[in-house]
Amino acid sequence: MVAQQLLELHDIVKEFPGVKALDGVRFDVLSGEVHALCGENGAGKSTLMKIISGLYPYGSYSGELKVNGTSRKFLSIKDSQSAGVAIVFQELSLVKELTVAENIFLGREPSLFGIIQTTEVLMRTSALLKDLGFHMDPSQKVGDLGIGQQQMVEIAKALALDAKILILDEPTSALSDTEIEVFLETIRRLKKRGVGCVLITHKLNEVFAIADRITVFRDGKSVTTYNAKDVDEHKVIADMVGRELTDMYPRVSRTIGGPVLAVHDLTVPHPTVPGKNLLEHVSFTVRKGEILGIAGLMGSGRTEILMSIFGALHGPRTGSIELEGQSLAFASPQEAINHGFALVSEDRKRLGLVLEDSVSRNIALASLKRVARFGVVDDSNENKIANDYIDALRIKTPNSASQVKNLSGGNQQKVVLAKWMLTKPKVLFLDEPTRGIDVGARAEIYKIVNDMAAKGVAVVMVSSELPEVLGLSDRVIVMCGGRVTGEFSRDEATQERIMAAATRFS
Ligand SMILES: Nc1ncnc2c1ncn2[C@@H]1O[C@H](COP(=O)(O)OP(=O)(O)OP(=O)(O)O)[C@@H](O)[C@H]1O
Ligand SMILES: [Mg+2]
Repeated sequence: MVAQQLLELHDIVKEFPGVKALDGVRFDVLSGEVHALCGENGAGKSTLMKIISGLYPYGSYSGELKVNGTSRKFLSIKDSQSAGVAIVFQELSLVKELTVAENIFLGREPSLFGIIQTTEVLMRTSALLKDLGFHMDPSQKVGDLGIGQQQMVEIAKALALDAKILILDEPTSALSDTEIEVFLETIRRLKKRGVGCVLITHKLNEVFAIADRITVFRDGKSVTTYNAKDVDEHKVIADMVGRELTDMYPRVSRTIGGPVLAVHDLTVPHPTVPGKNLLEHVSFTVRKGEILGIAGLMGSGRTEILMSIFGALHGPRTGSIELEGQSLAFASPQEAINHGFALVSEDRKRLGLVLEDSVSRNIALASLKRVARFGVVDDSNENKIANDYIDALRIKTPNSASQVKNLSGGNQQKVVLAKWMLTKPKVLFLDEPTRGIDVGARAEIYKIVNDMAAKGVAVVMVSSELPEVLGLSDRVIVMCGGRVTGEFSRDEATQERIMAAATRFS
């Protein structure tokens, strides 16, 4: 079968106030291929996808968009859908109050004489999920699902459209390794059916596992398109960041001091399932200047440890938590913050940012006391501090007064980091800190975390990226089924040992 050109974009220019997000981009998608789109945070990837999907209507950009050789002027997502385009947006857009099935069929519920056929919706969803190999209950409320499962629902929703062109903007950022395998298998099947896919991901191993072609964007321009087999990771990274990245995990020698945080025998019962525990007899210590990595599969209790200590999980628990020898139990995150704790969460919408507010206000949010004099927030002080962090983390924004919601996904995550760094914490909790962050910025973040540890901060980092855990941690504990199933020093820790402990169900 000769591949047919499904989608073509020529000379696309898109401007926002103060930002030229796309500057003469060309891009195309063939039937039966996966075309990966790579580029640093803010390079313009999501913006192009929003144009293809009609979210940014014709007229709000210049240039030409063709589907199957015909010039199209989409004015809405509905227009692009009827032309065979389906999209999974980077930020999840599900309705939390509705069920999985209701979300998947939202707006296109099969109805008979105007009555929505609930059983029909449930059955069709069941069939679809089964076909995809996703294990999920269609009648469950989306709000009760973890972020990984929500992402699977989002993917299923797009696939339910039976589209010819499928756009996936960081579809796997919250998926576990097993879920990613299922997902990649699904894409392979769609390819065989002739579907053309655009895949945006910061995980280059996924790109090389599945892409036929790779296009690199830099500063709103399409710089190169490769056949995936003709190129390697180094080359793609160099094109993305415009320089060679040498050492992602520089070894820094640090002096590790006495215990800062000591957790002993922490047990947290499951809120709804009687007899089950989220955490069971969890004990560990983090010292001054130490980076403790917490590894484990998704759902193993890693996030719950952080949440429970941080006062973000309510309900009963047993065991003890000590900060510098003082016993404590925070009733709310605010109490934890007042005692010198900081938490960078994996879900920036829920625990991280006020999207309507400015970059500077968001950065200052958790430490208003530091920027406020006599209880009054001093705007110029706030802006100065924000600007320091914008430079240090290379946050791409027109200025510190821009609304956070206008930043690209990865740059929003950098704002979350800046906000917590500014609180000058004693204990820093990081939960998947580099999710959705490009390689160049990742290197910057690792440097900053190392620097903070060198200044004496006790760091606890949950991460699914084993290279990151191994590269940064002084010590690693591994979780499985709510329990600690392994502990390794930096020298003992290897990928194999961590994986073995992470799957040690006993
Ligand atoms: N609605 C908006 N208003 C103003 N500026 C915007 C808006 N949306 C995007 N931008 C800017 O356009 C540029 C490109 O953003 P885009 O979201 O396309 O980046 P991206 O390549 O998807 O990055 P990431 O990898 O972080 O998701 C960024 O500088 C961003 O701040
Ligand atoms: Mg994006």
